[in-house]
Amino acid sequence: MTQVTSNKPKIAVIGLGNIGSIVAENLVKGNRPVIVADRKIEKAKGLSKKLGNLARPMEIPAAIKEADIIVFAIWFEAIKELLSKYATELQGKIIIDPSNPIAPDEKGGFRKIIDKEQSAGQILFTLLPKGAKLVKALGTLGAASLEKSAFQQPEKVVLFYASNDAGIATEIEAVIRDNGFEPVRIGGIDQSIRLEVFGDLHEFGALGKTVTLMEAKQAA
Ligand SMILES: NC(=O)c1ccc[n+]([C@@H]2O[C@H](COP(=O)([O-])OP(=O)(O)OC[C@H]3O[C@@H](n4cnc5c(N)ncnc54)[C@H](OP(=O)(O)O)[C@@H]3O)[C@@H](O)[C@H]2O)c1
Repeated sequence: MTQVTSNKPKIAVIGLGNIGSIVAENLVKGNRPVIVADRKIEKAKGLSKKLGNLARPMEIPAAIKEADIIVFAIWFEAIKELLSKYATELQGKIIIDPSNPIAPDEKGGFRKIIDKEQSAGQILFTLLPKGAKLVKALGTLGAASLEKSAFQQPEKVVLFYASNDAGIATEIEAVIRDNGFEPVRIGGIDQSIRLEVFGDLHEFGALGKTVTLMEAKQAA
C-alpha cells in the first residue's frame, strides 16, 4: 500500500466504534492522512480497507508512539486507563478527548457517572502525562450528526472546543476543519462541562441541535 504523507501533524484515532470510525472517515474526506487503531487490529485493517490509503491501520501502542495528535474515541474510564498505561509515550503530545462521562441508567436513558459539577475534561486534565496538552473536542455532536453534518454547504456546522493551550489552536482548528466543521474555542478546560452531554453547548444538552457560526456565537 502506498503511504500518503502530509506536512500537517500526524493524527491517530484510537478506538474505532461509533465516534472513532466517523472521525477517521471525516478526516479522509477532508484529505487528511489518519492512523486508525483499535485493540482489535482487524477492525483497524477493515476500516483502512474501506477508507483507502489515507487511513493507516496500526496497533494502539505504535499509533500512540507515531502520532503527534491522539484522539481517544473511547469511553471516559478507558481514556483514564490509557493515559496511565501510555504515560511515557504520550509525553508532550496533543490529546483530544471527546468523552461524555455517562453510563446507561435503568430507564433506558443515561446518567452521569461523575459528580454533577464535574467534567470528564477537568478530571482527565489532572491525569495528563508530562507536557501533554488536552483538548476537549469532537464530542459535542451525536454520532449521527457528526457523520451527516460534516462538510455541510453553504455554511459549515460548528464544533466547539476547549483547551488551556491557546498555542495549539492552529493544529486543533485544522483537525476540526479537516473533519468538515467550523471550530469555535470557548475557553480553557474548565469550560469542558459545557461541551459534554447535558451541557449548554452540546447537541444532547441545552443547545439541542447543530449550529452554524452565527448561531454558535449567540449560544456561546
Ligand atoms: N456515540 C455518540 O453519539 C457520542 C457522541 C459524543 C461523544 N461520544 C464519546 O465518544 C467516546 C466513544 O463513544 P462511541 O459511541 O464511539 O463508543 P463505542 O462505539 O462503544 O466504541 C468504543 C471504542 O472504544 C474501544 N475500547 C473500549 N475500551 C477500551 C480500552 N480499555 N482500550 C482501548 N480501546 C477500548 C472499543 O474497542 P472494542 O471494539 O475492542 O470494544 C471501541 O472501539 C465515548 O467517550 C463517548 O462518550 C460518543
